[in-house]
Amino acid sequence: MSRQREVVIIGGGVIGSSLGYQLAKQGKKVTIVEQSDLASGASGAAAGMLAADCEQFEHPELQTMAKMSRDLFPALIHELRKISGIDAGLNQQGFLTPARDKQEAENLQAELLAAGTGGEWWTPEKLSQAEPALTEGLTGAIYRSDEIQVIPSKLTEAFAYSAQAEGAVLLRQTEATSIQVQDKRVQGVQTSGVFLRCDQVVLAGGWRTEQLLQPLGLTLPLEPVKGEIVEVRTRVPLLQATLYAKSIYIVPKPGNRLWIGATSIPGDSSEGVSADSIVRLLSEAAKWIPEIRNAQFERAWAGHRPKSPDGLPYLGGFQEIQGLFAAAGHYRNGILLSAMTARLLASEMEGTTTPGINLVPFRPDRFQHQLEGGLIR
Ligand code: FAD
Ligand code: GLY
Repeated sequence: MSRQREVVIIGGGVIGSSLGYQLAKQGKKVTIVEQSDLASGASGAAAGMLAADCEQFEHPELQTMAKMSRDLFPALIHELRKISGIDAGLNQQGFLTPARDKQEAENLQAELLAAGTGGEWWTPEKLSQAEPALTEGLTGAIYRSDEIQVIPSKLTEAFAYSAQAEGAVLLRQTEATSIQVQDKRVQGVQTSGVFLRCDQVVLAGGWRTEQLLQPLGLTLPLEPVKGEIVEVRTRVPLLQATLYAKSIYIVPKPGNRLWIGATSIPGDSSEGVSADSIVRLLSEAAKWIPEIRNAQFERAWAGHRPKSPDGLPYLGGFQEIQGLFAAAGHYRNGILLSAMTARLLASEMEGTTTPGINLVPFRPDRFQHQLEGGLIR
């Protein structure tokens, strides 16, 4: 009788937790190792937009994957709530991209036609009727009913606790310190606590994922792109749909809260939120919704988007070491991509493929030969 494979996932962010759930559901023996708390990295700092049409994607394959992933969420969130009891705060009020003048309105209408994606044009009258708190004088908006949003920390917890309910082990406050390899095969993971013997390891450690690979002579280049968000609370709800403009997004959350984001600072791994960023985010937000000036400031936070040199995630196995996989580098869209990432990687780990998506552009060793040739760093 063949022995059941054991899998260790390093990282309890949205990616590691989503994969943990998928694998546990498929009957695998899974351990998720998280050095801090669930969603303590980028996943707890995100805005939670599942914006497959609004966001720009670096590759058509990633765009396809984003849409497939977004469309999985309504049913998946329902399933996770039933299993874990955690409500990920799904909001299905759609997304609005408004225009400030005639030229912007023409550009957006052309964009809508060219994209051929779901979305409709709202006249200024329809816009001010649906969203009366928006500033006067807007010249219309694209409304996309398919775009949705969630509370990302809750989604991560819902994945992780559903994984646990399906038999996975969650080890929090436990750091993975090295990966043991023998004869080019994974043997296990040394942690700050116990040694975990396993056949397969998945690296899902966010922007710091590469650290564990360096002793193995492997590379997985990632840089942090710092992002900051401000939360305000208003007396009455000011926005139904999520406002997704080029300069800013404003995401309505439960309890009359608005999340206003985000800055984007490449290479910055610092933790704090600068006063300048708060001032800039709030003043830009007030240009769209003047009443924001009278809102209560609640809090602000920062996180680090994990970005690869080509902006694509790393998804798949390393050819050099059997049993070693990566699921990292989801940059601006890890919450959105988490559902499909789990399905794709779980199939890859079984040696099968998922119809509709080609994983070749996401190979984790795509920069390895460049490192060896001295082209990276
Ligand atoms: P992380 O969430 O960083 O998780 C990695 C985890 O691994 C961490 O918890 C870390 O503690 C752990 N870890 C690392 N090394 C070890 C180790 N050696 N041992 C044990 N544990 C380890 N995406 C969207 O889809 N929609 C959005 O609206 C959105 N908005 C964003 C807004 C901001 C301001 C930011 C910063 C990001 C946003 N993103 C958004 C991007 C998204 O947050 C990331 O792509 C996603 O969270 C990455 O998830 P992850 O699990 O790979 O990484
Ligand atoms: N996807 C939104 C952000 O990264 O800020």
